[in-house]
Amino acid sequence: MDLLAALAAQPGGGALLEVAHEGVYLVGGAVRDLLLEGIPRELDVVVEGDAQALAATLGTPVLHARFGTATVDLDGVRIDFASARREQYQEPGALPTVQPAGLAEDLQRRDFTVNAIAVALGGARRGELQAVDDALEDLRAGRLRVLHDDSFLDDPTRLLRLCRYAVRLGFEIEPHTAELARAALRAGALRTISGARIGAELRLALVEPNASGALTALGRLGVLGALNPRLRHDAPLLSDALKLLPSTDGRPDLLLLVGLVLTLVARTGDEAYAKASALLDWLEFPSSERDRTLVSVIAVPRLTRELPEVRSASALRELVASTPPEGVALAGALGDRDREGEVGERQESSRAALRWLQEVRHVRLSISGEELLAAGVPEGPEIGKRLEAALLLRLDGGLPAERDAELRAALGAKV
Ligand code: CTP
Repeated sequence: MDLLAALAAQPGGGALLEVAHEGVYLVGGAVRDLLLEGIPRELDVVVEGDAQALAATLGTPVLHARFGTATVDLDGVRIDFASARREQYQEPGALPTVQPAGLAEDLQRRDFTVNAIAVALGGARRGELQAVDDALEDLRAGRLRVLHDDSFLDDPTRLLRLCRYAVRLGFEIEPHTAELARAALRAGALRTISGARIGAELRLALVEPNASGALTALGRLGVLGALNPRLRHDAPLLSDALKLLPSTDGRPDLLLLVGLVLTLVARTGDEAYAKASALLDWLEFPSSERDRTLVSVIAVPRLTRELPEVRSASALRELVASTPPEGVALAGALGDRDREGEVGERQESSRAALRWLQEVRHVRLSISGEELLAAGVPEGPEIGKRLEAALLLRLDGGLPAERDAELRAALGAKV
């Protein structure tokens, strides 16, 4: 295939080809994806020379002093520039020290053979491929292989990357590589890197197109177990829950995270809840995501028990209103599973979850606190209580959808 033509057809690709000179290469995932006739998510460029200067010819780069790298956003695509380098790991898991080098050495420092392919973008060898041993055969055969036996010990984040690529690309893990990965896990490789680095990789896994598949792969390889022996991904359950999650404001990544974290909490109560919270902090989830996840984690056991019993819309609101959509969806799926086999009760839970997510939570009063203030209700919590009482009446059909009726109900409510 004509790789340069394929690159030129990508956003940012044409401009990059125009400025590329001798010693400028496209590398890594972008070359892999173009050779597989896919669409690269971003472009990684290696320069034998000054990467930051090249980046500056395309726009205003964001510079990263420590590694001499630069990033430019062009036509909505991110282009990362790095000077060709060799890396040395002073100790397992530590960030490497880097030194300038040629392309061949730069390719040798990479994670998997299929990610260690480059194409020259400028100069006399423009269009030529350069790759480490086995790379092109592995790409054709759909195989993930590390470049050397210490790869996972040097950089244990590769254990998570391996699972992501295996699922996304549909590639098999070459047997010796699988053995090295298991040996690294047994040797405690994940304990040599920070929670932040593991968390960053886990967050990438959670937003993969087949994120549930990526978590299954992480479980099979033993990565989840190495993080916590009880951590498990229940793919069939999460598949059911994902079907209930609204596409508008539901977060599939957080739903999968709730499912994972719940495997720590379900059995041992409060102490495990503290552990779950500590795990999310260690993985450096942003506080808003951590809190949203934990609210669901706390709510799910009760919702799972009670959702199938709920009859009225007001009772549904009282049960689930403070739970994010992920928690409601998971409780719906779990409740169905708990009742599998019970005649007549199947799917009561998921039906109740859907009733809330698709219908009941969208019902609003046409009056607001302003009208109650104007009618003489003092400012403070009483306003909210009166509005809530009117809304519960509305939900159960005891109130027409009219302003006056709503106002009368709110003013007459016993609070
Ligand atoms: N790389 C590596 N080891 C890592 C991270 C990255 O060797 N721990 C190398 C790989 O050659 C990879 C390249 O750096 O292809 C770019 O990294 P990244 O953007 O994370 O990988 P992509 O393969 O481009 O991933 P994606 O397709 O997910 O964007």
